[in-house]
Amino acid sequence: METGATVAQRESGYERKERDAYMTPAWVTQALVDDLEREGFLPLHGHDNAGKLKPLAIWEPAAGTGQMADAMAGRGYEVFCTDIQPEPGVGFAHDFTEPTLPVLFPAQIGGVITNPPYDQADEFVEVALRMMEARGGLVAMLLKVDWDSGKTRRRFFADCQGWARKLVLLDRIYWFDPVPGSAGPSENHAWFVWSFARRHVGRGASIGYVETPAAERDRLRACKKGKIAA
Ligand SMILES: C[S@@+](CC[C@H](N)C(=O)[O-])C[C@H]1O[C@@H](n2cnc3c(N)ncnc32)[C@H](O)[C@@H]1O
Repeated sequence: METGATVAQRESGYERKERDAYMTPAWVTQALVDDLEREGFLPLHGHDNAGKLKPLAIWEPAAGTGQMADAMAGRGYEVFCTDIQPEPGVGFAHDFTEPTLPVLFPAQIGGVITNPPYDQADEFVEVALRMMEARGGLVAMLLKVDWDSGKTRRRFFADCQGWARKLVLLDRIYWFDPVPGSAGPSENHAWFVWSFARRHVGRGASIGYVETPAAERDRLRACKKGKIAA
């Protein structure tokens, strides 16, 4: 099955990437973290055995080269990385669709945040929701903007008590820096957020919008003009 990112990049003249290896530009993850902090979903905290408040970690289960994880770590979050085929130095091998937990799984995981391979998005969301519902945690997935549309998706939204927020990206994601003469990307994306923290469950969902930051827009414009090498 072709994925959103795959089609977008092929139409832009790029080669198809294996294993859906489209790494998320930093601003997209930073925009999520900003929004989650503003809306009160982050930072995540839990209690240790003595009842003391302690920070929880985030699991990036399709970490690729770690761009998304780096952006979260850059905002002060502890990130646990796994991937079905981990890049050297970026976390551990683990198939997220398998019903087992990875080796060395830290007990203090409170959230799952990723850009899943699009042909396994349902499975990824399913596994993440099941796991975070049991822990009262958070899930955020970067998906095509209309991913919530469709009868089979009701269970993730209308029928899910943890469904909390949709953060729509008003600009399309450039998965690679553009070169002069290349067409722009063709897919729109959004962050879909679920929270099973007691204070959020059953409260209904909200919507937010975010644009590409000005500095990133200027940089992409310069790439398109050939002023910066892609
Ligand atoms: C779209 S990339 C995401 C990269 C990263 N999340 C980012 O945006 O910076 C998809 C990644 O999912 C991994 N992957 C594919 N199937 C997987 C599975 N079943 N379990 C875990 N990782 C998987 C691929 O190896 C690839 O690195």
